[in-house]
Amino acid sequence: MQKPDPIQSNFKGKDILSLDQFDTQSIEKVFFVAREMAEIAKNAKQSDLLAGNILTLLFYEPSSRTFGSFDAAAKRLGGKTIVVQNPTQVSSVAKGENFQDTIRTFESYSEALVIRHPEVGTLQKAANAATIPVISAGDGIGEHPTQALLDLYTIYEKFGRFDGLTGLIAGDIKNGRTVHSLIRGLSLFKNITLYLLAPTPLMLDRSEYEDFTKRGIKIIEIASEQEIPKNANFWYWTRVQKERITNASDYETVKNSFIVTKALLQSFGSNDMILMHPLPRVGEIAEEVDDDPRSVYLKTQMRNGMYVRMALLALVLGKM
Ligand code: NCD
Repeated sequence: MQKPDPIQSNFKGKDILSLDQFDTQSIEKVFFVAREMAEIAKNAKQSDLLAGNILTLLFYEPSSRTFGSFDAAAKRLGGKTIVVQNPTQVSSVAKGENFQDTIRTFESYSEALVIRHPEVGTLQKAANAATIPVISAGDGIGEHPTQALLDLYTIYEKFGRFDGLTGLIAGDIKNGRTVHSLIRGLSLFKNITLYLLAPTPLMLDRSEYEDFTKRGIKIIEIASEQEIPKNANFWYWTRVQKERITNASDYETVKNSFIVTKALLQSFGSNDMILMHPLPRVGEIAEEVDDDPRSVYLKTQMRNGMYVRMALLALVLGKM
């Protein structure tokens, strides 16, 4: 399968489809620009960096945060957006138009495309069809690169480093695209240990396990909360991806196998850790945990999404 171009610190005109495109310097560049973007957003300053630019948001799957933060990101930088949520119903896709034609259509009206699609590989097809940058907002169970960049940014803002960190990722490791991108990103750094906690049917795919392990990241798969290490720097909880599980009774068996409660945090969480979640959560983090100072999912993590997406838009459009 064709692969997107490596970034190598030069974002202009590039597609953003996978964390495999990144090296540590390119990630640091995103962080550097995101910090500037945070200043613009926090002070509600209007920037004209993207003035005259139009971004198309083409979402074949539901979205709140990725959609909302890209829309806000473009507008905070003075750009505008064409919003196509649910194209299979509201666009010519409903009349049978093929994917490539839909891509070429919105390419003629805008400077970049942000696309979410349920099928792995479709984002690469979009990138092949388009001459403007295509940014993945989620590619089936494949990857969700912009989410991983904001997750990495959130970890970096807290610890100031990645090397030597220990993390716990829990939930749907098999189908969770945010996890697939996050592990790829973390693998670029040294001495990372990742504990993966999942019910057996939702464990990491064996070929991905082998691929990631070869990159040098230490992966330890665990099957119960009792095995959670007490020294983890971050916990990254995820939702069981119901829409990827065909059999309803299979979903019922695995949903909410692991729930973060005050008691769990008390027993296994370190004082200095952060608790993350890409959201939406559907019961796997108890609301009683929301006010814990270690919980960042409803606070910094979500806002960081907007800063990082502002940075990515500015970079791929060659404005920074
Ligand atoms: C995630 C997604 O769509 O992959 N949401 C998001 O973008 N933050 C996670 C999920 O849906 O579980």
